[in-house]
Amino acid sequence: MRPPILLTLLLAAVSLPASDAAKNLPKFEGGDIHKYWMDACARCHGVNGNGRDNNGSQLPDNGFDFTDSRKANKKKDSDWIKITLEGKDKMPSFKDKMTQADVEQMIPIMRKFSAK
Ligand code: HEC
Repeated sequence: MRPPILLTLLLAAVSLPASDAAKNLPKFEGGDIHKYWMDACARCHGVNGNGRDNNGSQLPDNGFDFTDSRKANKKKDSDWIKITLEGKDKMPSFKDKMTQADVEQMIPIMRKFSAK
């Protein structure tokens, strides 16, 4: 049987952007931590932390809705620091891009998404 070429192409098209999101992640060089969210985190978590792009579509590698205060309030800062540094499943490790102090600076940004 011939390989279902269309399906293969479709799968490639669907899976490519997903794996690309973890590539070429910039290193935090100091400065504006919010800008770093935009540069390094928003591609998966969204500019507003809700895992959606500017058109409101779900991003492929989004893993957590930071705007869901019910869920976010259950999470400890220390958990978020650990996951950011070490990674988890599709969440890449940032330990070669950020120091623990950098991640601590990022916590208020993540908390603010659910503060309404
Ligand atoms: C390639 C996509 C991607 C990038 C880039 C990314 N994340 Fe994530 N992140 C994820 C996914 C997927 C999860 C869910 C992991 C899981 O629980 O399986 C996640 C989970 C998290 C969590 C844990 C949330 C929870 O309580 O379950 C934190 C905190 C987090 N990311 C912070 C960040 C920060 C800060 C950045 C930028 C410095 C970032 N992420 C960049 C994909 C990404």
